[in-house]
Order: sequence, then C-alpha cells, then structure tokens
Amino acid sequence: MRRFSLFVLLICAMQIGILAQSRSYSLKFDESKYTIQTFTFEGKDYKVRSFENIIYVANPIDTAYQKMNIYVPEDFYHDKLINGFTRETAAIFFPNAVGGYMPAQPMTLNGGRGNIFGQRGRGPGGQGPTGERPRMPQQPRGADMQQGSAIHYALAHGYIVASAGARGRSLQNSEGVYTGKAPAGLVDLKAAICYLRYNNRHIPGNKDHIISNGTSAGGAMSMLLGATGNSSDYKPYLQELGAADADDNIYAVSAYCPITDLDHADCAYEWQFNGVNTFNAAMMEMLDGNSGPAEMTNQLTEYQQEISAQLKSLFPVYLNSLDLRDEHGRQLTLDTQGNGNFKDYVIQQVVAAAQTAINQGKDLSKTPWLVLKGGRAMDIDFDAYVRAMGRMKTPPAFDALDLAAPENHLFGTSSINAQHFTKFSLDHTAVKSSMAAWDIIKMMNPLYYIGVDGSDTAHYWHIRYGTIDNNTSLAVEVILATRLRNRGREVDFALAWDRPHMGDYDLKELFKWMDDMVKRQNQ
Ligand code: DHB
Repeated sequence: MRRFSLFVLLICAMQIGILAQSRSYSLKFDESKYTIQTFTFEGKDYKVRSFENIIYVANPIDTAYQKMNIYVPEDFYHDKLINGFTRETAAIFFPNAVGGYMPAQPMTLNGGRGNIFGQRGRGPGGQGPTGERPRMPQQPRGADMQQGSAIHYALAHGYIVASAGARGRSLQNSEGVYTGKAPAGLVDLKAAICYLRYNNRHIPGNKDHIISNGTSAGGAMSMLLGATGNSSDYKPYLQELGAADADDNIYAVSAYCPITDLDHADCAYEWQFNGVNTFNAAMMEMLDGNSGPAEMTNQLTEYQQEISAQLKSLFPVYLNSLDLRDEHGRQLTLDTQGNGNFKDYVIQQVVAAAQTAINQGKDLSKTPWLVLKGGRAMDIDFDAYVRAMGRMKTPPAFDALDLAAPENHLFGTSSINAQHFTKFSLDHTAVKSSMAAWDIIKMMNPLYYIGVDGSDTAHYWHIRYGTIDNNTSLAVEVILATRLRNRGREVDFALAWDRPHMGDYDLKELFKWMDDMVKRQNQ
C-alpha cells in the first residue's frame, strides 16, 4: 500500500514537472494589471500606465526573455490629446534592446536598453559562450542620455511604447540545449507584434502604425521585422511557440548601424578595409572588464592579408549581381578592382554627411581627407578616410575561420554552438566545423525579403550609420538603403558625421520623421 502511494506520488510529481515545463500562458491582455509610473522629460513630469512582464507566447521557451513591457501615457485614459494623437490613433514605438545578437530583456521605462550585451563595464562579448573571442566595441550604444531616452521621447510625444525581449545566441536551457540560435530572436519579436495585434481592442495604439527601432544587431532585427512581414518562412517557428494568430508585419523601421547582410558582409568589409593591415586589438579583445591596455594596435598576418584580398575580389561580383540603381535609374557597379560608380555613390554619402555637419556649424577644415571648396564639402580621399577610421575586425570579419565571431554563434543550432554561414569560410575553416542551413541564413538577411512576393515589407525606413563606425562596411548600409528605394520604399538614409557604433543620437529628427509620416496617414 505504502509502495503504491509512493508510486502515485511519483507519477503526480512527474506530471507536475512536465506541466510546469509546458505551462501554457494566456494570450489575452489584461487591461486591469498595471502600475502607474512616472518619468521626467525636458523638465516636465509624465505619468504612464505600465503593463510589464507580459508573456507574449502561449508556449514560451524562456520566460526571462519572451516577455514585453507596454507603456501608455496616462493622459490618454482621460481623453486628452497628445501631439494630436488619441489612445486609439497613437502610433506604437517598438524598440528592442538586442545587441551582439545576445539575449535581450524588454526595455523599461527608466532603465533604457536592459540587455546584458550593452551594460557598460561588464563587457558584451564577455558574456559569450566558451571559446568565443569577444569582438565587440566598447563604445556608446543606445540612447544618448543627454537628450533623454527614446522611450521617454516617444511617450512625451503621444506614442504608445511596446518593448519586447528576445532570446539570443548564448541562451541555454538547464539541459545545456541552445535555445536562442537564429532565427529565435527575430521570431520572438514577431510573436510580440502578433500579440499586440491579437489584443487590438484592449491594447491602445494603432496596430497599423507599429514602428520598430534598434541599434546594431538590434538594428538588424528592426530591419528584418520590416522586410519579412508575414512571410511564411517564420510561421512554423511562431506556431511552435504558440504565438497569437495575427499578422506580424510592421509599418516603419528605424535602424541604427544595423549589422546585416551577414552572408556577404565579409567581402563588403574587405572591399572597404583591404590594405589597412593593422587593427585595434582593444576593440577585438575587449571587454570583460579586466582586459589589457585600452589601445593596442595589432598587425594582420600575411595569411589574413591574403584572405582579405580574396574576399575583396569577391565583392564586385556580388555587388553587380544585385542590379542596384541610383536615383536616375543607372546601374551601380564595380570593376574587378572594386572601383566604379557604386564606390562613388558611397563616397557621395560621406560627403553629404560632411556637408550636413558643416551646415550645423561644425568646423571640418582640419579633416585631412576631406576636400573642401569655398566652405563646401566636395569629395573625400576614400583610402585616407578608411585608414583614419581604422579596421576593427580581422578577415573574415563575420564568418570567422576559427568560429569565434558572434555571428558564428548566432548560426549555431540547438546542439552546435557555432557554425559557418559562408562557403568561403567553410572552405578556409581553421577548425572542425559545419555549415548553417540555408533557410536559416536566409531568414536572417532582410535583402532576401525586401519587396518580394510573400513578404509584406514596411513602406517607411529611417537608417543611420556613423561615418567612423568600423563594425561593418558602409557598403552594407548603402546596399540595403538602395535596394529598399529600388523596390519602391520611402527611405530616409544618411551617414551621421563622426558617429561611432551607437544609436538614438538624433531623436528629435527621428520623431519628426515619425510624426510626419504618421500624421500624413491619419489625415
Ligand atoms: C554588434 C556589433 C558587431 O560588430 C557585430 O559583429 C554584431 C553585433 C552589436 O553591437 O550589436
């Protein structure tokens, strides 16, 4: 008898265990579960209703990340207009805190981007899985606090804010299974969009006006959300999570320094940096809080220089295959040396950034590689500009031959920590390795989806990249912006003078762009 009841107890315990693991969460938004929080913006106090830690899928894999925070200006509940918007017409600002393709918590009202990647002092790359060489820059990212966070800015200007957390490349469950490899993080953000739409009547804001925002890997996520709306490629993943049955497309994209087109970014990087044979080791080795000297310049080996030359030679073939067009419909191309009107087009963007800075009153007369005439920016010495910027990464910059780059870890599987994702690096690998599945590589590259049948690509895009950001190639940004324009999208693209790898530095301008576009639609 005793033995029997022990047996029953054991079965019950097992069942509880199983149930706990596969607990199903309600997808219904509970309007009554909120707290009132306050923040100060430009000397004024604001009150918001905070709906925090909402699990946005029925069958989450990691509730530490698959959750969302929603903030609504309290004035909207008292029938007040803010910036011309009501609780129903307000657009939804959807910022993510993804950095380094790591797991990211949802952003909070007063905490900014709460990702483990971005916390200064702890070291983004230092959080990586064993064997990973941290390769991230310790440079400012996220909000430029002097002008307040993007979330405060949004709420003060009558936007609803919804920020979702997302799984990332280093995440493992208690059994050691990797749970955040591609495309997990993107699927999570899509699931959060589905949740907002599914609860349309109960969550304030216009679900046709969702505007994503992110920086770096988060900028790439923002772009991917914009490019891949409702694509069937992601549906099985959404279904497995028990995502709400609703559309996942968005209205507009804000992306700062997106690290994207990963499967071609190595050759784009060498097109730009070939010939720069030193790199900044401090940026590479970083940043676990106890790394060595702040500045240390290292030399590329002869083999790395050879790899650089080979990768550079692959870029024109790729670029020419894209059939990109300038505003006059002329094809942008490169010759085998990497010269041609595409390069001129990139140069024009840097010149335009210089001119904008001059117009803002900056003195650029001491910039040796910039050609000025009568106080106007005319041209640049591209090679001198790139040398002055300096190289951050060794070739191949993204699909590292030793599998040590963050992107190698992004393309792991549930049981393999890091893989290659280009044929070049697989062919030249320095370690025992395997190749990521093509459908996964595809799902992480917005270029395969922009304006393509089966994906509802956002119409409005705001893309910024700093002129001294050496995390990826300028070519990557120009390619994305041009492809979007060529496929009929409205793109506000600019290089930001003297900006390193960071985001949200021009919030006034960003929100003016949003206001103009949303109000045009609301008329
Ligand atoms: C980030 C930066 C990188 O250089 C990179 O390769 C991937 C991500 C980032 O800052 O998110």
